[in-house]
Amino acid sequence: YAQLHTLAKAAGLKYFGTATDNNELTDTALVAALSNTSEFGQITPGNSQKWDSIEPSPNTFAFTNGDVVTALAKKNAQMLRCHTLVWFQQLPAWVQNGTWTKETLTAALQNHVTKTVTHYKGQCYSWDVVNEALEQDGTFRKSVFFTTIGEDYIRIAFEAAAAADPDTKLYYNDFSIENPSPKTTAALNIVKSLKASGTKIDGLGLQSHFIVGSTPSKEVQIANLKSFTALGVEVAITELDIRMTLPSTAALNSQQSVDYQNSVAACVEVENCVGVTVWDFDDKYSWVPSTFPGTGSACLFNENLVRKEAYFGAVAGI
Ligand code: XIL
Repeated sequence: YAQLHTLAKAAGLKYFGTATDNNELTDTALVAALSNTSEFGQITPGNSQKWDSIEPSPNTFAFTNGDVVTALAKKNAQMLRCHTLVWFQQLPAWVQNGTWTKETLTAALQNHVTKTVTHYKGQCYSWDVVNEALEQDGTFRKSVFFTTIGEDYIRIAFEAAAAADPDTKLYYNDFSIENPSPKTTAALNIVKSLKASGTKIDGLGLQSHFIVGSTPSKEVQIANLKSFTALGVEVAITELDIRMTLPSTAALNSQQSVDYQNSVAACVEVENCVGVTVWDFDDKYSWVPSTFPGTGSACLFNENLVRKEAYFGAVAGI
């Protein structure tokens, strides 16, 4: 039977993909499943392109782990969503706790973005340039970047990325922007204000870390995706997973399947929604249980790489 990426392409998407991470790549069964390009036509490095991995000390760059994931994508002929340049988490201490002025942090940010994007030039379908810049109430998150530079750090990051690789698509990526809310309005405003200043922004990534039973409906997700594409950017579902309170039950599993179906279908039905990426495809390596204790079973495949009801929901959504 046809699998996720094959189906997605036939339905007009560019890809169906998954996150992966370096610690998974010694698991041969996992690598075989990940490398099945009928299933996954795109991968995202889960951690190894983040600032703490790439530039652990000032102007000392460590691309080795990121390169392992990008080389795997190249070997498999899978697209790459590169992730992520400027984020308030997984920052090295020298950035997080440094003594900065607006000028010195701007220079450090520009150097990080320029050297990282240049290193991966030509390999990334897209870059998540800025990740999670917003609070739930729609105000800017008080990261070291915002408190030192002001909201202009976003424009500065996008301009440095555009200069380093004019051919990669530049995304703003965030969570809890999958239905209308003050945070979603603020994300729309980031797109509008970058465009108004003539800054290149190509895409908006909706992480879509959902909860079984409270996933936004297909109709709500469609209208919401269209609110972004109406501004002239493409959209992508970038980190889809749908967690449940454990233990799983038959009812939770079938609701999860419906939730996956609706989320995938929303992207399929929106012109300029280019693809869906799950935030790992198997429960064994999901970030969910350690991040949201008491919850889990959020992925399409179980710990033994067996396809779950959720998987067949995703298939039905395409
Ligand atoms: C997560 C990784 O999956 C974990 O391994 C890590 O410990 C924390 O970060 N939003 C993002 C991703 O943009 O980078 C995060 O990834 C999940 C939330």
